[in-house]
Amino acid sequence: MQKQQTLRWQSRLALIPLLFAAAASHAATDPLAPTAHWSAYTAGRAPTPPMGWSSWNAFATDIDEAKILGSAQRIVDSGLAAKGYRYINIDDGWALRRQVPDGHLVIRPDRFPSSVQGGASTFRPLTDKLHAMGLKAGIYSDLGRNTCSQAYSSQSADLPKGSVLEREIGLYGHIDQDIALFFKDWNFDFIKVDGCGLRAYGASDQRVRSGEYRALPPVLDLESVSRSNIPAVQQEFTQINAALQRNKPDGDFLLSLCVWGAADVRQWGKNFGNISRTSDDIRPSWNRLLSNFDSAVRRELYGHPGSWNDPDMLFIGAGDFDAGHLVEARSHFSLWAMLNAPLMTGADLRTTPQALLDIFGNADVIAVNQDPAGNQAVLAYDADDLQILVKQLANGDKAVAVFNRGFTPIDADLTAEHLKFRKDAPVTLTDLWTKAGSSFTSETRLRVAPRETRIFRAHGSRMLAQGWYLSEQPGSVNPAVDGVTTPQADPTVFRSSFGWSGTKGAGERPMYAGWGGARADSTPYGQTLRIAGAPYPAGIGILANSRLEVRNHDARQLSVQVGIDDSARDHAHAVTFMIYGDGKLLATSKPLRWGQSAQALTANVAGAKIVELVARSDAKDNEQLPVSWGGAAMQP
Ligand code: GLA
Repeated sequence: MQKQQTLRWQSRLALIPLLFAAAASHAATDPLAPTAHWSAYTAGRAPTPPMGWSSWNAFATDIDEAKILGSAQRIVDSGLAAKGYRYINIDDGWALRRQVPDGHLVIRPDRFPSSVQGGASTFRPLTDKLHAMGLKAGIYSDLGRNTCSQAYSSQSADLPKGSVLEREIGLYGHIDQDIALFFKDWNFDFIKVDGCGLRAYGASDQRVRSGEYRALPPVLDLESVSRSNIPAVQQEFTQINAALQRNKPDGDFLLSLCVWGAADVRQWGKNFGNISRTSDDIRPSWNRLLSNFDSAVRRELYGHPGSWNDPDMLFIGAGDFDAGHLVEARSHFSLWAMLNAPLMTGADLRTTPQALLDIFGNADVIAVNQDPAGNQAVLAYDADDLQILVKQLANGDKAVAVFNRGFTPIDADLTAEHLKFRKDAPVTLTDLWTKAGSSFTSETRLRVAPRETRIFRAHGSRMLAQGWYLSEQPGSVNPAVDGVTTPQADPTVFRSSFGWSGTKGAGERPMYAGWGGARADSTPYGQTLRIAGAPYPAGIGILANSRLEVRNHDARQLSVQVGIDDSARDHAHAVTFMIYGDGKLLATSKPLRWGQSAQALTANVAGAKIVELVARSDAKDNEQLPVSWGGAAMQP
């Protein structure tokens, strides 16, 4: 007990210099000052969302070499590899123990016979095989000393064996050693870093009290942002990044953050890794799909090339998404494509029926997901049962998905306005599942079956004849500072009954912080953008005291109508709007208060690589002061 307490204090003390450092650097810099820099993550190799296979959904910890190589072989043989599925990821369950005292990790030899090379334990033969097949290899670890299965699958026969110290197979205290082992010695290309070790091993936890595991003070709390220690979590990812740079200097790696939407990761995950989980685990149930989809669908401005939202792996192949549920399986795939989610199949591909392989292999839907512009879809219509999502593609076309969440068929009206196309010019649609073509002018009525997602590529005449609305290009807009001072759970996420503990307890509470974040074509709280009564169907909604970074793709002019949004409850404080190009002030508004009409700003952004939009106020309570960048457009 005394030992545990000493350890607990040691870890707390270890955090103190860190916290001071974070506080000091914060005081020294003005977060709204222009940086002329894109601050979201661009290290690693994720210019488009990663695609591949992961062992977790099909096998949990019951993994072995045959299962992994069998799925890899099918990915190649079925033609999926050629369509972009490249990463073969070993999730939790591979580790036997950590050697004491040298700290070397040992792979389960019975499950991975090729890892036994003389006296050594190495994944090199397996990664060599995967690489020889033209694939990439991924591994799993944890921010803490222990993993998620050790916390939540205590009955599993597949857990690490040995003494308390030998069973500590997570990264905590071993970041440099393990990252070097995974990337330099074993030659992996991908790492998923889970967070259970920083969540589930508090001193009062039964597993800790019984002496099975050492205590590590929880700094991640899925249910409470205020109980999470965000700088402590970020600090570990900083160290992991430094180790990746050292051990994979060619930059050919991919870092997957798995803290399930906790600790306000929506706001900062995009600065620390290539993909970042937005919610707890997906399950093969329709309700859980809704929860995971909702956790990402209003985060369109928080995903970009190099830093994608991750609503978790695909569960096509099981339960509500098996071969008896092709409508649901196609919906799952279409929606993940529109969200720019990683397309990681989680099925046992050795036995996956052709009908489901055909879903994974739909090249037109894959092309939507892999579109080089990297724009996550934006909600163009949003009710509880029907949503219309529109994704701007690089060649000027739109992808549009009409999603029926419920149990009754819906006749949905898709309009040219939803697509930001002119209503007096024809729009052509290509159905990406049936391949049927059609066209309409102004509007068309689509029948959408229960749980169906109809997905099309649309071609038409743009409402904005020249250039782009910023809200059409979320992949190029980064809310570097989104003004959120008090992170709050997003109440619009469907809270499915989760099932780890049946329906014991009080049910799912609103969990994933994100409410009040920056939005495309919407205020931070989901209303129509409106300044002094004038609505803006296109624009960016964000809180005051915020800074947006915009990548400029050869535009010469930025034009926008700025003002405090009518939804603001703060009617007293003024906001000044500023536009910078590569750090130079290009345009500024007068101080604007609630109720004042919008002010038009235009800025000559020719030649500027990074344009920044700053909304500054003396107000402290930004949550009361949403502002609108109405009709913001980058034009030639
Ligand atoms: C967590 C993650 C899952 C999976 C398991 C492994 O629950 O969210 O995706 O990696 O851990 O134990």
